[in-house]
Amino acid sequence: MRDNLMEKGFMLVCDGSNGAGKTTVIKTIEQYLKNKGLDVVITREPGGTPIGEKIREVILDPSTPEMCDITELMLFGAARAQHITEKIIPALTEGKVVISDRFDAATFSFQHYARGIDLNTICKINDMALNGFSPDMNIILDLDPKVGLERVVQRGEGLDRMEDEKMEFLEKARNGYLTQAKQAPDKFTVIDASKTQEEVAKLVISVVDKLIEKKAFL
Ligand code: TMP
Repeated sequence: MRDNLMEKGFMLVCDGSNGAGKTTVIKTIEQYLKNKGLDVVITREPGGTPIGEKIREVILDPSTPEMCDITELMLFGAARAQHITEKIIPALTEGKVVISDRFDAATFSFQHYARGIDLNTICKINDMALNGFSPDMNIILDLDPKVGLERVVQRGEGLDRMEDEKMEFLEKARNGYLTQAKQAPDKFTVIDASKTQEEVAKLVISVVDKLIEKKAFL
């Protein structure tokens, strides 16, 4: 489905441990690509569309810890379906570069590896939302979740419903990303987010360069 739709656009996902520095990395990539004259769309999950942002508020609200696992999974799926249809496919079709702060790998990490929902159920919901679509590359910023949460707290941000989970939950999610990366090395690049900002930026740019080369973008 994807290749017929797209001419030159491609999609990069920045994902990984909470507090690992996704926002800074996304800004670095955005600037780098804009300097090359490319049209860049920054987006995020859950969210990225008006409907998706409303769903995000419901999912992450720390005042409703009673949300059941399947509700959570379906809400992430619903936000993703809207995101792909309303924003991602149209942008790629116009030849833009889409950079998303989290995407479908997060559902495998958090809802399967951490929450424990069986893979079959995860795939059913994800497949419905994705409809054959897959991003070109997932950059996984890997960090000890204890360090990540300290960073979130230092930034003065309150913890959302997911970050309010036990440390074990976040550790399982982290390992979920590492497992996915081992299983699909052509779609995942893991970057050690405990390195300095400059080192992380250098590594990320080399991933972007390889992707551009692969896409024969320039
Ligand atoms: P963040 O984007 O601010 O990191 O917050 C989003 C939270 O939602 C984060 O804890 C990861 C979680 N999440 C899932 O559990 N499943 C998903 O499919 C996505 C996209 C995010």
